[in-house]
Amino acid sequence: MQVSDDLKHEHQLILKYIELMERYIDFGQAYNNNELFGDKAEAFIHFIQNFADTFHHAKEEDVLFKHMAAPDVLTHCNPLPQMLMEHDLGRGCVQRMKDALSKDDWDSLAKSAREYGVILREHIFKEDNILFPMAEESIADANKKSVKEEYAQAEARLDGSALWKEHETKFAELEMDFENALSKEMALA
Ligand SMILES: [Fe+2]
Ligand SMILES: [Fe+2]
Repeated sequence: MQVSDDLKHEHQLILKYIELMERYIDFGQAYNNNELFGDKAEAFIHFIQNFADTFHHAKEEDVLFKHMAAPDVLTHCNPLPQMLMEHDLGRGCVQRMKDALSKDDWDSLAKSAREYGVILREHIFKEDNILFPMAEESIADANKKSVKEEYAQAEARLDGSALWKEHETKFAELEMDFENALSKEMALA
């Protein structure tokens, strides 16, 4: 029984948003058009807070990590405090993005967004390659069943399928807007 497949699948959407966010920032810096990302920053912040933090991190912190922290599960090393600290570092970046956006401070908005990307990309790599294999190995099958049940409760409480639909639709829209803005600049060049 697997307890990390859903979380890995969520990572893929988070990574897609981070990559697109970085393309917006690169574009703004290359063409001196910071407002393009400025206009979309709220949508990225909404995704990060609503999907990555509230939904995904809730399943990690309130379900998987909790089960991994139970006595006798992790007998050698415990990477959970580091993982929780990285979630907090990400939250700090988002707060700085919000503050920068409220002041139309494009440089600091871009800087904090890039920091978020670096932290989360590394964090996701560690989870996919180290933490999740540890979880699969160390949580007993009977407890994996409870993990699955608790995921299902979180999915129901936060309406997971509506969240997926909302954020996948929004991603396609943000990607299309980016491609359009890029072609416009290319045509002018
Ligand atoms: Fe995490
Ligand atoms: Fe994660």
